Amino acid sequence: MNVAIIGCGGIARAHAECVREFEEDRLLAVADIDRKAAERFAAQWGAKPFPTVENLLAETLPDAAIVCTPPNTHREVVSALLSAGVPVLCEKPLAHIVRDAEALADLAGETGLPAYVAYCHRFNPAARLMRDYVGQGRTGRVHTFRNAFIGFAPHLTTAWRTEPDISGGGCLMDNGSHSIDLQQFILGPIADVYASLHFDGQGRGDVAADLLTVSESGVAGLISVSYVSPKPEARFEIIGSEMALEYDYATSGATVTAYRPGHDPERLQLPAGCDVRFIEQYRAFREALQGRPTDLATFEEGLRVSRIIDRCQRQAGITGGIS
Ligand SMILES: NC(=O)c1ccc[n+]([C@@H]2O[C@H](COP(=O)([O-])OP(=O)(O)OC[C@H]3O[C@@H](n4cnc5c(N)ncnc54)[C@H](O)[C@@H]3O)[C@@H](O)[C@H]2O)c1
Repeated sequence: MNVAIIGCGGIARAHAECVREFEEDRLLAVADIDRKAAERFAAQWGAKPFPTVENLLAETLPDAAIVCTPPNTHREVVSALLSAGVPVLCEKPLAHIVRDAEALADLAGETGLPAYVAYCHRFNPAARLMRDYVGQGRTGRVHTFRNAFIGFAPHLTTAWRTEPDISGGGCLMDNGSHSIDLQQFILGPIADVYASLHFDGQGRGDVAADLLTVSESGVAGLISVSYVSPKPEARFEIIGSEMALEYDYATSGATVTAYRPGHDPERLQLPAGCDVRFIEQYRAFREALQGRPTDLATFEEGLRVSRIIDRCQRQAGITGGIS
C-alpha cells in the first residue's frame, strides 16, 4: 500500500514508523506547508516531499493518507483527500470546531470512503479488554469510569494547543478528546456532561478541565485532564458491581489489575502494553481498507466527541468563537 502523510511535525514520525513495519507498505509522499519540514521528513523516510496536499494529489494518488496537521486544517486537508478518492486516517480531534467536524462527517458519508479518526487509546489492549469484559457481563453493572490524563507540560500553555483558532480550545480538546472517546469506546455513548474548565491566559484555551459525564446506560465518568498538574497521572479504570478494572500507563505494563470482592487484586495479562497503540491502530486501518470490521473511530464518532467538547466549552461561557 502506498501511503501519504500530510503534516510532518511531532506525531507524523509515530505514523511513519508504523508504515515502515509493514513490508508491503511504502511512504510514498509527504506534504507540509513548511517546505523544509517536508524535505527533511521526506529524506528521512524515503518519500517525495510536497508543499501542500493539493500539489501532492496533482502528482500522485496514494492508496491512503494519514493527516497529521493541526486541527483547524483538518477540514481543508481531509476534504481534498476524500474528494480525490483517497481513504483517510485523520489525527484527533476530527476538527477544531463542530461545524467542520459536521462537514467532514457529511463528506465521509457522501463519498463512502474509509475515513477514521486516530483515537489511538482505543488500541491500548487494556481498553479493549475492559470493553470485552463489560460486553460479556463480567464486571456486573458498571457505575463509574475514571480517567486522568494530567501532567506538567507548561510549554503547551503557550503553544498552538491552547490557541483556540488553531486547536479549537485547549487541554480539553487535546487530551480530553482522547478521554471522551475512550469512555464512549468502552462504555457506549455519553448522553450528558458537566464540565469545569480552568484557564490561565487571556484569550487562550483551557489548561486543565474536569468533567462529569453520564453515559446513555447511566455510567458516570469522572475525567481530569491537565497541562499544569505537578502530579503526573495517566490512567483509566471502570468500577462495576462485580469487578473493577484499572490500567495505569506508568506502572501497569502489559497487565490490567482486576479487583473482585473477597479476592486479592489480580493482574490480568494483556498481549502487549500501551506502547503498541499506534502500530495496532495502523494495522486496523490497513484491515479496514481491505473491508474488514474495525474498531477505529468513524467520523461520526469523531463528531460526537466534538459535540461533547462544544457543550463543555459553552458551559464555560465560550461560545461563538469556538463553534
Ligand atoms: N494521538 C496522539 O497521541 C497525538 C499526539 C500528538 C498530536 N496529535 C495530533 O496530531 C496532529 C498534529 O499534531 P503535532 O503535534 O504533530 O503538530 P506539529 O505542530 O508538531 O506538526 C504539524 C505540522 O503540520 C504542518 N501543517 C500545518 N498546516 C498544514 C497544511 N495545511 N498542510 C500541510 N501541512 C501543514 C506544520 O507545518 C507542522 O509541520 C493534531 O491534530 C494533534 O492533535 C495526536
